[in-house]
Amino acid sequence: MADETAASVDLSKFRERMKDYPPNPSQVIPLLQLSMELYGYVPQEVMYEISEYTGSPVSQIYGVATFYAQFRFTPVGKYIIRVCHGTACHVAGAKSISEAIEEELGIKNGETTPDGKFTLELVSCLGCCSLAPVMMVNEHTHGRLTPDKVSRILKQYK
Ligand code: FES
Repeated sequence: MADETAASVDLSKFRERMKDYPPNPSQVIPLLQLSMELYGYVPQEVMYEISEYTGSPVSQIYGVATFYAQFRFTPVGKYIIRVCHGTACHVAGAKSISEAIEEELGIKNGETTPDGKFTLELVSCLGCCSLAPVMMVNEHTHGRLTPDKVSRILKQYK
């Protein structure tokens, strides 16, 4: 999914899917969501495509996109690590988990490793509090974490 860089965005798949949406300004958010689904972020080129297709100025699309936390503007890593900092996980030591990841990968919340492999995100409840502290790597849930366990898990993805 998100191994594209700004210089290599293949717009053809976006253009193909865009045709399923009516070409009007009410489709800006659904089209931004489509970009997230296809690329994992909203490349600038896609923003221009949406502008042309819906007739909405780029500045307006950018305004909408920045208003919602669900949209991002930079590529994500191949693996998105979501570390839960909800109440149960916080109490169970989530801070030591995210610190272990930061140290292991050299990135902070919201950052991606230079090799494009990992993106770190601190999030609220992932819905499996009984396994606290919890993180997800893409779709896989890892629970009852310790800093040592985190290090072993990350090695599986390297
Ligand atoms: S608080 Fe972490 S999974 Fe619910």
